[in-house]
Amino acid sequence: MIGAETVRRFATQGYTVVGIDNDMRAYFFGQSASTRPMADQLMSELPDYIHHVQDIRDYEGLNRIFSEYGADIQAVVHTAAQPSHDWAAREPLTDFGVNATGTLNLLELTRLHAPEAVFILTSTNKVYGDLPNALPLVEQETRWEVSPEHPFAAEGINETMSIDQCKHSIFGASKVAADVLTQEYGRYFGMNTAVFRGGCLTGPGHAGAELHGFLAYLMQCAVAGAPYRIFGYKGKQVRDNIHASDLVACFQEVVAAPRSGEVYNIGGGRFSNCSLQEAVALCEAITGNTMRTEYVEDNRIGDHIWWISDTRKFQEHYPRWRQRYNIQAILTEIYEGARDTNRTGS
Ligand SMILES: NC(=O)c1ccc[n+]([C@@H]2O[C@H](COP(=O)([O-])OP(=O)(O)OC[C@H]3O[C@@H](n4cnc5c(N)ncnc54)[C@H](O)[C@@H]3O)[C@@H](O)[C@H]2O)c1
Repeated sequence: MIGAETVRRFATQGYTVVGIDNDMRAYFFGQSASTRPMADQLMSELPDYIHHVQDIRDYEGLNRIFSEYGADIQAVVHTAAQPSHDWAAREPLTDFGVNATGTLNLLELTRLHAPEAVFILTSTNKVYGDLPNALPLVEQETRWEVSPEHPFAAEGINETMSIDQCKHSIFGASKVAADVLTQEYGRYFGMNTAVFRGGCLTGPGHAGAELHGFLAYLMQCAVAGAPYRIFGYKGKQVRDNIHASDLVACFQEVVAAPRSGEVYNIGGGRFSNCSLQEAVALCEAITGNTMRTEYVEDNRIGDHIWWISDTRKFQEHYPRWRQRYNIQAILTEIYEGARDTNRTGS
């Protein structure tokens, strides 16, 4: 999803965009989560867009693509991943191969072919493992909140939180490897690398699945009248949600004025967040349908009870950046997409 938004934005700004995606999302989450229709759509919308069906675990295959463009490569925006906690435990080797080795392949090929290029990694707030769950949390009517006297209460969690000595899930651990490698290619080799530790990234292009893409999947269920399962924490767990468009705007800022080895927490922040209960209520208000929710006592392993990203470090480095979408706007846009899909059955 983030890859597609990146392709669109940079292509419409006159860049030649080369996409790499082997549709492994369909392998992870089933045919309904396939990214093939999105790739086809991008190719028909953007005549100059070049798409490669290529596995990022295959170094030689990637090398052929990098060799073709060499030092003309201005930026590598790496958004390919196995993105789910739960799935990672099924096949830890596959998860690590995609998330960690795939990232190392891309970093190394960027260093060899285009060392001046900007390299952006979409990491995740799951690199902080379950440490956020040790914050002093207060139960409110519809959500958990951090106790008001805690330094993270006002603006959210910043990059000073430790990523060490906590439970990450297998997915969180493979993303830590990718995250640290990307920092290292900045710090050690002096490359223009930036790591974005995302909260929930979302938007209308998301091929939502139960295991990944929570707002898109929730809205799909609300529109189709399908049941939705809430896992643990009384449904009061809080996530911040950033629209793909606002995130890609961050990438543009970095490409225009790169720095080296930076790490940013990025997400909806205080501007755009909700608990699951609140998200269900919003979906009901937007669709006019009563949702069929089922509560499952056990929470997901590694799930955060409360996460709100403090985005002030990024804002300080890139003061032109503005966030446009709040949670209501995000859900309304997802609704319009899901309604049209439901209508046409496509
Ligand atoms: N969506 C979120 O809420 C969220 C939150 C935090 C971080 N992130 C991170 O942001 C990035 C983008 O997330 P997204 O929501 O767009 O995920 P997505 O699943 O929609 O996109 C990932 C893409 O990578 C492709 N891919 C997977 N394995 C591949 C491989 N071996 N070779 C080539 N392509 C491969 C998939 O087919 C898919 O098109 C990921 O790194 C993810 O971990 C996402």
